[in-house]
Amino acid sequence: MEASGGPIIVALDFSSLSSAMKKAEQLDPKLCKVKVGKELFTKVGPHSVTSLRKLGFDVFLDLKFHDIPNTVARACEAAADLGCWMVNLHASGGRTMMETAANAMAKLSTAPLLTAVTVLTSLNDNLLAEIGLEGGTELLTTRLAKLANSCGLDGVVCSPHEITSIRREINNSFVIVTPGVRPLGAAINDQARFATPSEAIEKGADYLVIGRPITEARDSRKALIEIHSTCIPPS
Ligand code: C5P
Repeated sequence: MEASGGPIIVALDFSSLSSAMKKAEQLDPKLCKVKVGKELFTKVGPHSVTSLRKLGFDVFLDLKFHDIPNTVARACEAAADLGCWMVNLHASGGRTMMETAANAMAKLSTAPLLTAVTVLTSLNDNLLAEIGLEGGTELLTTRLAKLANSCGLDGVVCSPHEITSIRREINNSFVIVTPGVRPLGAAINDQARFATPSEAIEKGADYLVIGRPITEARDSRKALIEIHSTCIPPS
């Protein structure tokens, strides 16, 4: 699906459609895309996606599917029916789940980009070991990114700190989406591992998920324009 709006994806983490729409109206689909996550989607439903599309935004539906292959593939088809620009799943759902979803998307005339979450940035090496995943976050992230690539996915969602090792292993057409982005001087909030927009792009990110530095700014449009101006691709 043809995308517009540059590298910034604004996370519309709101609990009502009216707040999400009010914020979206302060933004500009020529300068950003938007992300609908679990809270807004669970509260409002598919209408959240269709309403934002009507304003002209490309919508990333961030529901991180993880289920049996058939269920995930049907959910991705439902996201495609809604006209989503991007949808995601958990790479840890495994090869069959990812291949079934990727094959379902390949059959569509217009399909969303299908990306995989590698390792949640809220997990550290100890928490991973506790669920039986040894080797540490970096190794696991790279392994899951390579698996997602070999299953025909379009890209991955990962922390800015993992971009370099993924880019080293996988070609440049593999899309990298990164949250944990903070402009210089912005509040860090609860992001433990973050990078500035230009650092993330220099490392090789294609898309930056940015929420509160834009949505909680006194002037969200101004904040978007300022961050957009720092997202200059490396020469
Ligand atoms: O407000 P902030 O910029 O921290 O928002 C980041 C967005 O990216 C949120 O919607 C959050 O759920 C999402 N996200 C994240 N870290 C991940 C995956 C998703 O912050 N590892």
